[in-house]
Amino acid sequence: MEKICSLLLTLLLLATCAPKAADLPTEPTVAPAVTGPSIVSEAPAMTEAETAQPVETAVPETTEQPAVEPTAAPAFVVEGYPAFDFETKTVTLNSGYAMPILGIGTYALSDSQAEHSTYWALKAGFRLIDTARIYGNEAGVGRGLRRAIDEGIVTREEVFITTKMWTSDFSNGDAAIDGSLQRLGLDYIDLMILHHSQPRNDVDAYQAMERAVESGKLRSIGLSNYYEPEDFDRLVNATMIRPALLQNETHPYHQSGEMKAHIARYGTVLESWFPLGGRGNTQTLFNDPTIATIAAAHDVSSAQVIIRWHLQAGNICIPGSSNEQHIIEDYDVWDFALSEDEMAGITKLEQNNRFADY
Ligand SMILES: NC(=O)c1ccc[n+]([C@@H]2O[C@H](COP(=O)([O-])OP(=O)(O)OC[C@H]3O[C@@H](n4cnc5c(N)ncnc54)[C@H](OP(=O)(O)O)[C@@H]3O)[C@@H](O)[C@H]2O)c1
Repeated sequence: MEKICSLLLTLLLLATCAPKAADLPTEPTVAPAVTGPSIVSEAPAMTEAETAQPVETAVPETTEQPAVEPTAAPAFVVEGYPAFDFETKTVTLNSGYAMPILGIGTYALSDSQAEHSTYWALKAGFRLIDTARIYGNEAGVGRGLRRAIDEGIVTREEVFITTKMWTSDFSNGDAAIDGSLQRLGLDYIDLMILHHSQPRNDVDAYQAMERAVESGKLRSIGLSNYYEPEDFDRLVNATMIRPALLQNETHPYHQSGEMKAHIARYGTVLESWFPLGGRGNTQTLFNDPTIATIAAAHDVSSAQVIIRWHLQAGNICIPGSSNEQHIIEDYDVWDFALSEDEMAGITKLEQNNRFADY
């Protein structure tokens, strides 16, 4: 009897002293990047923390390891629509060029604000900058880019610059392209898009961009603010190069589903402007109970949840900001993934409601 008691006591002591998995040292922060849409998984995506493995040598041989699913972001899959690669954080456009799927927008920033935001964004990891002739800050974007290049943060080839041709320039497209190149201080622009549909002369403007692709001044070309499939087709049917991208107002309350399905037939990708709702509207989206609840569950901000939703929904996302902390936060979206249920919850927020009226 005494022997049995002593054996039981020893077993009890061993059980309480054995290391728990949570106490074991884990891998340093380096973990595989979230891999994306090439893996179509029915299972909810796992976060980086969930997939982190204890250091091999510290794991007692007898400890059973839970089965670990590969980290995967739910994919947006529509036939013809370009696939997002979450490992390289890029999408290959129908022009053949790789474009980052997350960038920074510069609407409403002064020339000098745009310079700082561009520099901070490149420092934070962004490789896509969105500007426009009408914003009056192309020169600032060019200075911010040159500063980052001079400091060795990036090379020109690593950065993707988008600008837009304004409607009043549509009859003088060749000169407008040269003007943007000169203000940006670049010898080529990665992507130029027509800022708005304007049936009177947008075909002329697009043909000027096609000539500039031929001469190497532009790499890819596309459109912005075409909200009807027929209007998009009108332009496509009158021109030669398929638009690489369509930039439209897109966010959880206006998800652009119809246009996204339509442009897939041309291999055209959607880019969201007002991804967070736009200046003055962001709190409406940030405080939406569905978005706020998901943010709390992942211990991230509402802005990060919305950005992540865009990326997993197959929308290139370009949140605008003049605030360095926001810029850092907006790029910090690679270590968590929304589950299919969470994605579906945000999809249900669709109201077909635009915040802007243009
Ligand atoms: N093609 C078009 O017609 C068109 C139209 C509009 C916009 N765009 C492009 O799309 C880009 C994005 O749109 P947008 O800038 O107008 O609107 P947005 O990105 O939806 O929202 C910008 C607002 O979000 C705030 N913000 C950003 N990150 C935040 C964070 N982490 N936490 C809290 N607030 C945050 C910014 O404030 P802070 O400055 O304080 O960070 C700013 O007030 C534009 O910058 C522009 O490049 C294109």
